Amino acid sequence: MAASKEKFYVTTPIYYVTARPHLGSLYSTLIADVVARWQRLCGKDSFFLTGTDEHGQKVAQAAEAVGKDPKAFVDSFIPAYEQVWQQYELAYNYFVRTTDPGHKEGLQVFLQRLIESGAIYKDRYHGWYCTPCETFVTRVEHAGQAPPCPSCGRETALVQEETYFFRLSAYAQPLLDFYREHPDFIVPRERANEVIAFVEAGLTDLSISRTTVAWGVPFPDDPNHTVYVWVDALANYITAIGYGQEARQEQFEHLWPADLHVLGKDIVRFHAIYWPAFLMAAGLPLPKRLLVHGWIKVDKQKMSKSFGNVVDPVVLHDKYGVDQVRYYLMRQIAVNTDGEFSIADLEQRINSDLANDLGNLLQRMSTLARKNDLFEVRPPEAWSPAALSLRDAAWSTIEQFRQYMDECEFHLALAALWRFIHQVNAYFHEQEPWKISKADSVRFAEIISATCHSLRMIGILVAPIMPVKMAVLLGAIGTTCNTEGSCLEELELGVWQQTFRLMETEPLFRKIDKTEQEVTDSEKGKEDEQIAQKPSYVAFEDFVKVELVVGTIKECDPVPKSEKLLKLQVDCGAYGMRQVLSGIAHAYRPDQLIDTQAIFVLNLKPRKMMGLESQGMMLLAEDDAGSLVIATVADPVPNGMRLR
Ligand code: MSP
Repeated sequence: MAASKEKFYVTTPIYYVTARPHLGSLYSTLIADVVARWQRLCGKDSFFLTGTDEHGQKVAQAAEAVGKDPKAFVDSFIPAYEQVWQQYELAYNYFVRTTDPGHKEGLQVFLQRLIESGAIYKDRYHGWYCTPCETFVTRVEHAGQAPPCPSCGRETALVQEETYFFRLSAYAQPLLDFYREHPDFIVPRERANEVIAFVEAGLTDLSISRTTVAWGVPFPDDPNHTVYVWVDALANYITAIGYGQEARQEQFEHLWPADLHVLGKDIVRFHAIYWPAFLMAAGLPLPKRLLVHGWIKVDKQKMSKSFGNVVDPVVLHDKYGVDQVRYYLMRQIAVNTDGEFSIADLEQRINSDLANDLGNLLQRMSTLARKNDLFEVRPPEAWSPAALSLRDAAWSTIEQFRQYMDECEFHLALAALWRFIHQVNAYFHEQEPWKISKADSVRFAEIISATCHSLRMIGILVAPIMPVKMAVLLGAIGTTCNTEGSCLEELELGVWQQTFRLMETEPLFRKIDKTEQEVTDSEKGKEDEQIAQKPSYVAFEDFVKVELVVGTIKECDPVPKSEKLLKLQVDCGAYGMRQVLSGIAHAYRPDQLIDTQAIFVLNLKPRKMMGLESQGMMLLAEDDAGSLVIATVADPVPNGMRLR
């Protein structure tokens, strides 16, 4: 542990071990890994914790169903977790299991502290319980009937037993005060609003022990009770780093409070209400931030073992490769919304973003330079204007990338970086280095050097997302990066003065053969060719019928339940205010668009999307990979100005 560096402690939820990990479990863990690597790149001393949730009724029942002792049952899945996490380069610092002796010791100390604080009392529980979610259903509309679980919709069972209660009701106001004082505690904001509304409706005391579930940690001084599995599980965040274990106290004090808990939207209540209330009662500091991610869905349904629609990460790894899947998950799915898993999108991202945009750039530059005997690439004495403008673009991309990564908006960070990759490709193409390799070796070397500097920056910034391939990329241009603070700091200086050494390289990404798709594509290609042979012109009088107007975006909000759409209120001058829906949520954050001028088509027939009317269309530039950039005017103009 480097004493001089600021720490960053990030956690994943701990997984129920009733099956092998699936793509949904991989997703939570990958987010935490990317954050840990990113914070390390920013110079922090990251500590990344993951692990498994091994007690409780759900695990006990699953073990019983296959005639196994619960401990032997959970043990049997641990190698699969370790294997998958290693395959995906998930570089955790510690793997906690709730059956670890250290965890059990720490948990009992934690409970003792809650008992001493007066937050716990004994009574009888009478109510409904959902075993798959391990949840007491506290708000029931028709008291006599078994309600469906509000979280998963499955049947609940009646539980009547003696229990220890935690005085959760006493923490409603302190929690509301805390949320108000820490508006960034829960990200994204919509989740915070849901939590606040839930707490404002009043909290009931929480049962935290079971007498009918033997598979758990005994309650202090009352071994007829076992600790409720969610209390057991949440405590992992402190026990894993040494809480309640004398020999590890120093580590606990160094790391706690956690800087970030990563979790799925199904378990927000436990992390945003119960966990802070327990910590308040125990007199411990609260975690700094909860990052709540959406679900990965298949055919619009959450990917989950119980729905039988899981995607096996091992199969994906073997077919597509570790960094390709990591990139797809971080680029395709906005962290705060649900995302539909699709092989077609994964293959498209690999072929287009990775193989074409990035891999080919490296390959083309390196092959050309080496063919012309340029192996050692020194920076020029002075950069030309074209290279300087590329360097400026690199510099502003670093700024944007940093902001998005700090806010855990990974898809936007990658979208910004890919816009820069397109700029590097355009630069390389426009400079036509192949035409001057012999005639002007100085300018030739400058183009190669500018491309290498750009690739170095890309390699360093993208390393938290694609650690293996970016190490290969950096190796191919003869640089390494310790992927720790100094590297990013140096990049941010924006000085291009490296010497590169070009190594022989294999293509960075292999394209996926889309055999079936290719057949249809090539048939479509023939049709396109035929169409292309008959030029079809638009008459000028037809063109001017399109009302192309400049407007300023005054308000911009996400559209509930839509991954793509943003809802804009646009001031179109003499044409009035217009509501426009635009599919750009993957490319821009709503606040980025406020006060931006863009170009709108105003005389299309109004259209309803997601129940909302769109009274115009915003013009966007879109490349083959689906990256979007807003079309605008070069200088500010009055709203309502027509384009022609
Ligand atoms: N054991 C509890 C967590 C205790 S943390 C103190 C639990 N386990 S779980 O295995 O059911 O889920 C663990 C995490 O995986 C949750 O964040 C959950 O949202 C995430 N995912 C499980 N399926 C998922 C998807 N299909 N998509 C994205 N994440 C999903 O809850």
